Amino acid sequence: AKRVGIITSGGDAPGMNAAIRAVARRGIFWGYQMIGIKRGFKGLLDYEFMTLTLRSVSGIINTGGTVLHTGRCPEMKTKIGMGRAVKAIKDLGLSAVIIIGGDGSLAAGNSLSKHGIKVINIAASIDNDIYGTDETIGYDTALNTAVEAIDKIRDTAKSHDRVFVVEIMGREHGFLTVDVGLAAGCEYIVVPEMKVDMQKLTAELKKGKERGKTSEIIAFAEGCGCSAEFAKKVEKLTGLDVRVSNLGYIQRGGRPTARTRILASKFGHAAMDLFHKGKANLFVGITNGNVSAVSICEAIKCEKKFDVKTAKIVKNLSV
Ligand code: F6P
Repeated sequence: AKRVGIITSGGDAPGMNAAIRAVARRGIFWGYQMIGIKRGFKGLLDYEFMTLTLRSVSGIINTGGTVLHTGRCPEMKTKIGMGRAVKAIKDLGLSAVIIIGGDGSLAAGNSLSKHGIKVINIAASIDNDIYGTDETIGYDTALNTAVEAIDKIRDTAKSHDRVFVVEIMGREHGFLTVDVGLAAGCEYIVVPEMKVDMQKLTAELKKGKERGKTSEIIAFAEGCGCSAEFAKKVEKLTGLDVRVSNLGYIQRGGRPTARTRILASKFGHAAMDLFHKGKANLFVGITNGNVSAVSICEAIKCEKKFDVKTAKIVKNLSV
């Protein structure tokens, strides 16, 4: 049987396992031998792999992390690393590689496809920052984790009449932060895509207190710099009691939500169907509720648009 490789790479995202299960089972259905590459591209360079069977992907749809393990692999950005990856794929007899990951994985997929390897990328990242998909695997889970955490922070903030700066992941983007802000009823969001007017922000924080607010929460995207320094500035300018909470890696873990699992299952299923139909060099995502595929090239070239409208809703409702 023809062999197809599955790899998870870059930062892990909840739902990667559901995607592995879907790719493996759909691939086996079409008659392929499914090979799981371990530890991301590092594992590929070291020829670390395992055969995936119907049963070896049992009981993982509901688990966080990735059973294949993952890693960041800077070598893939070098000519030598890329050459080694292409050789390993050929040595292992893989007729295609399904890559589950975020923008780094997309870049690797792009380079591999330029070297004649058949690749299908599946969108998985808590950042939801990739063009060509409205949502990435893991995003909804991270969103729910962050919202739950802020609900808890709200309790203590209210009890102490405090302002909280809560740092949200998302690398250089504010996609996760804006939705967290809306869902957690945050008073403000600070994201790299929009300028912050410190004078205005602090004046509004004080006005909020005058309107009887007992707590005020600022969802602060990690891409905006140091949340602790920002909090100090706010404290100095307002004289209010300000605390910081960095949500950190809890946003990357945990049981995937139903929405994440559904997305992962659909993406994995579609990826293998596309490959079986002879398609390759595609990025699988979801657009307006339907599973979609754009060329990897296009996904790399274009930038996902930040939704300023949603940011405005956060502001309009935080009165
Ligand atoms: O891409 C996911 C993400 O969690 C980002 O939000 C964050 O900036 C980055 O990964 C952290 O990277 P690392 O796992 O290498 O610490």
